[in-house]
Amino acid sequence: MSRYLVTGGAGFIGSHLVESLLAEGHAARVLDDFSTGRRENLPPAAELILGDVADPATTSAAMAGMDGCFHLAAIASVARAAEDWPGTHRVNLGGTVAVLDAARARRVPVVFASSAAVYGDCADRPLTEAAPTHPLSAYGADKLGSELHAAVATGVFGVPTVGLRFFNVFGPRQDPASPYSGVISVFAGRLRAGAPLVLHGDGEQTRDFVFVADVVAALLAAMAWRGGTAAVFNVCSGRATSIRELAATLAAIAGLPPRLTEGSPRPGDIRHSLGSPEASRAALGLGPPIPLAEGLAAVWAWLGRP
Ligand code: NAD
Ligand code: UD1
Repeated sequence: MSRYLVTGGAGFIGSHLVESLLAEGHAARVLDDFSTGRRENLPPAAELILGDVADPATTSAAMAGMDGCFHLAAIASVARAAEDWPGTHRVNLGGTVAVLDAARARRVPVVFASSAAVYGDCADRPLTEAAPTHPLSAYGADKLGSELHAAVATGVFGVPTVGLRFFNVFGPRQDPASPYSGVISVFAGRLRAGAPLVLHGDGEQTRDFVFVADVVAALLAAMAWRGGTAAVFNVCSGRATSIRELAATLAAIAGLPPRLTEGSPRPGDIRHSLGSPEASRAALGLGPPIPLAEGLAAVWAWLGRP
C-alpha cells in the first residue's frame, strides 16, 4: 500500500485515477480547489484537502507523508488561458513549480499532466516525442514550461519525474454543459438534448481521442517507471478520427439521426493532431487502446444514467 497525492483529483481525469488507486489498495489524498472539479466525483475513502495548488505552503503540507504525487490540477482549457493569461499561468506553471518544490525535500516521484498542446501546429503525423515543440497557446506554453521545470527537478534535485502529453481525452464525467469541455462530451450532450451538432469548419479536422481508462493506466505505469532521467511520453491512441466521423459514430451508438450544422472555424484550431503511442507503449508496457466506439458507448450510457 502506498500513499499518493493527486492534485486535481476531483476533476474528470483525476477522479478516475483516484478510484483506481483506491481499488488497488492505495491511499489517495486529493488537493483540489473545486474550480472545475466536484466533490461528488470523489469516493468517500479519498482524503480531501481543499486548497490552491499554486500556494507553496498548501502544496507542501499536502505532500507531507506521500510516496508519490500525480499532478493533474490545472486550468485545463486553451480558451480560458487566452482569456486570463496571468491567472492561468499562475496555476498551470506556478502549480507545477510548487508541486516539484514540495517534492524535492524527500525526492517524492511526480507524474504530471502535460498536453499535446506543446506541439502546436507541428505538421508531423504521427507526432513522436522527438517532434519540435511550438506551443500556440499560453496553455501549451505552460505545459512545456512544466516539462522544463520537471527536467530541472530531476536533473538538479533528483526528483523522479514523468510528464505525460495527453491528447484528446474523453470519458464519463467530462462535463457536457461546460463551454470549455471536449467535443465528445459536447456532442453527446447535444444529441441527448435533441440539438444539432455544430461542426466548427468543415468537420474534416482530425483528432487522436484517448479514453480516460487508458490515461489512468498510463498514469499508474508512469509512477512505477524508473528510467532515471526526466521523461515525457505521449498518451494517445495512435488513431486519427475526423470530427465529422466522430459525429456519425456517436449518433449511430445513440440510435439517433445525426443532425449537423457547419459553424465558423475556431480561430487557431489545429487541423490535424495524431500522436505516436510507440514510445509510451514500449517504456510503460501499455496494451492496445480501448476502441473509440467502446469509449463512446460508455459516455452515452453515463449521460443517460438515472
Ligand atoms: P478538469 O478541469 O476536470 O480537472 C482539473 C482539476 O484541477 C479540477 O478538479 C480543478 O478543480 C482542479 N484545479 C484547477 N485549478 C486548481 C488550483 N489552483 N488548485 C487546486 N486544484 C485546481 O480537467 P481534466 O480534463 O481532468 O484535466 C486534468 C489534467 O490533464 C490537466 O492538467 C489538463 O491540463 C490535462 N490535460 C487534459 C486533456 C483533456 O483532453 N482532458 C488534454 C491534455 C491535458
Ligand atoms: C484539446 C483539449 C486541450 C488539450 C488539447 C491537446 C479539451 C476541451 N481541450 O483541445 O486541453 O490540450 O486537446 O491537443 O479537451 N469541435 C467542433 N464542434 C464542437 C466542439 C469542438 O467541431 O462543438 C471541434 C473543434 O473545432 C476541434 C475539435 O472538435 O477541431 C476538438 O475540439 P476540443 O474537443 O475542444 O479539443 P481541442 O481543441 O483539440
